[in-house]
Amino acid sequence: MDKPAAAGRIAELRAEIRRHDNLYYVLDRPAITDAEYDILYLELVKLEEEHPDLITPDSPTQRVGGRPLDRFEQVTHRIPMLSLENAFTDGDIAEFDDRVKRFLGLPAGEEIAYVCEPKMDGLAVELVYEGGRLTVGSTRGDGFVGEEVTQNLKTVKSIPLTLGCDNPPALLEVRGEVFLPLDAFQKLNTQREEEGEAPFANPRNAAAGSIRQLDPRIAAKRPLAIFCYAPGMVEAASFASQSEFLATIRRWGLPVNPLARQVTGVAGILAFYREMTAQRDTLPYEIDGVVVKVDSFALQRELGEKSRSPRWAAAVKFPPRQAVTVIEDIVPSVGRTGVITPTAHLRPVEVSGVTVSRATLHNWEEMERKDIRIGDTVVIERAGDVIPAVVRVLTEKRSGDERFLPIPASCPECGSEVVKIPDEVAVRCMGLSCPAQIRESIIHFASRHAMDIDGLGEKYVEQLLRLGLVRNVADLYLLTRDDFMQFDRMGVKLAENLLNAIAASRQRELSRFIFALGIRHVGEHTAKLLATAFGSIDNLARAEEEELLSIREIGPQVARSIITFFHNEGNRETIRRMIEAGVRPTVEEKRVGGRFTGKTFVFTGALTRFTRDEAKTMVESEGGHAAGSVSKKTDYVVAGAEAGSKLAKARDLGVAVLTEDEFLTMLEGDT
Ligand code: IVH
Repeated sequence: MDKPAAAGRIAELRAEIRRHDNLYYVLDRPAITDAEYDILYLELVKLEEEHPDLITPDSPTQRVGGRPLDRFEQVTHRIPMLSLENAFTDGDIAEFDDRVKRFLGLPAGEEIAYVCEPKMDGLAVELVYEGGRLTVGSTRGDGFVGEEVTQNLKTVKSIPLTLGCDNPPALLEVRGEVFLPLDAFQKLNTQREEEGEAPFANPRNAAAGSIRQLDPRIAAKRPLAIFCYAPGMVEAASFASQSEFLATIRRWGLPVNPLARQVTGVAGILAFYREMTAQRDTLPYEIDGVVVKVDSFALQRELGEKSRSPRWAAAVKFPPRQAVTVIEDIVPSVGRTGVITPTAHLRPVEVSGVTVSRATLHNWEEMERKDIRIGDTVVIERAGDVIPAVVRVLTEKRSGDERFLPIPASCPECGSEVVKIPDEVAVRCMGLSCPAQIRESIIHFASRHAMDIDGLGEKYVEQLLRLGLVRNVADLYLLTRDDFMQFDRMGVKLAENLLNAIAASRQRELSRFIFALGIRHVGEHTAKLLATAFGSIDNLARAEEEELLSIREIGPQVARSIITFFHNEGNRETIRRMIEAGVRPTVEEKRVGGRFTGKTFVFTGALTRFTRDEAKTMVESEGGHAAGSVSKKTDYVVAGAEAGSKLAKARDLGVAVLTEDEFLTMLEGDT
């Protein structure tokens, strides 16, 4: 391709990738599959390799660009990043509202419009966009001077490198909170334990620790996210209110918490606070309260600020997720990779509405570092549904009877030798047939993100093992209804459901199958990379170290772990038996030259000729994609009976409407 053509295609690809980044990371409404995204991304990488002079710092390929730094530069915030005054009770909220009204000279009866937002528990940062391009990113620091962490912030996928608007303001500074979602936090800690690093006490520390890494490749591996919530200095744009500001920056591609909303008066604030309290435990990230802001920027200016905090905002804090209790016992338990983890059995204590009786102590090195002993009085902290952790010991409460639990000499479950591998903090049971390891590996195999065998949880796996019906995961595929009928309180219907769920798992995506095998260091993401690169389990099993290392993101440790796994005769035998039992991991076939290439379909109404999932598969196998909602970008709407608003919208927009039969003809026809 000559340079002008390449430049044109590069611009097209960047725009398309940015659009999909926004749909996926900001709007949570992906329109294409990961594999389709990878095709676009790889084409861009290739073109940029051929034309390095066309690479610009805001290209999606440049998120992880820079080299490790020696230290961070300091950045002075043009406008100081203030903190917030705290309110704790309903009375504090009423007082805040009173003060606002008094200051503005409003009568007590008049109601103020506020914007309420969840208070994210992460790390405050500032993003500077000049002429629509992200130029500087910094931490809050002491509010006046922070650290320049541009390289690390660029790795946060939901932060746009350029604003999605035609006439970007000359300057836009936005403040927001970077955080690590809870599932990523939990995964990160498990991985750190396996790799011998100290786990993070909570998601906030994990986010802060990631953004303050000198090597941007480390931040890039952590799936950090951000919600933006306040303007800094702005030139050549103006906003009348916080709600207008949020709506506008959201339109420009910046992530805004969808839960933020305008409310009226104290009653509105209290209702929002109660709603968030109720939702707190089900949100995928940690929040520590609610932030209330006077909506109108004119009123905000009138109210002004005190030395460190504005008069127009307040943080309504939740009760802390920490509590003090006593460790009654410390019990070692064995995980699926044989790692033995000490768990604290606690005197039950309530932590923000949930009774907690267990806490993870992670490993013996952590236990020694924090000097945690049986009988100790400790501060524990919990985040969402994550297992609580011990923050610190209240040593002043010691009586002298507390005792340290040494590393067990043998596995508490199978009595095998226990080994502490040099350079690792983990202590492992080396027993190949350790029942605890087998149990945990089957539970993992069946879990939702792996083979997704609906209903086959801990309780049933334990019974299968106890009755001697399975010895490893391959045995699952040989189970019969009679096997299940031996369970306590099992009915025919339930047994059938379990059997059907197992049968359905015979055809799962290859990436799930690879993840389900439980190869050390191979998480969901790596499993996807491997599935795309090798296309079949046989190819992966035969892969040589160099082939594995040629995949970006796969390092020597992961490569060796994969090789070791497939060299093990027992593992190979297990896979062979699963294939014999009809397990057929599927591969997403991408036909770039398919008849629907580049076409978007929306299916609506009651379909009778195929299911929605089948429709999606048919479209994708011909290179098109199936979207959930109708827009100008939709090429065809396939409408079944009783199609409603989507069909109406299609007609409105002049999108072609097909019946199911017409769709099938198009799929099979010669045109
Ligand atoms: S607004 C002057 N909104 O809370 C107002 N802050 O104590 C500036 N925070 O440093 C902050 N979620 O780290 C605002 N939705 C939100 C927030 C939020 C979390 C943090 C932020 C700030 C601290 C203030």
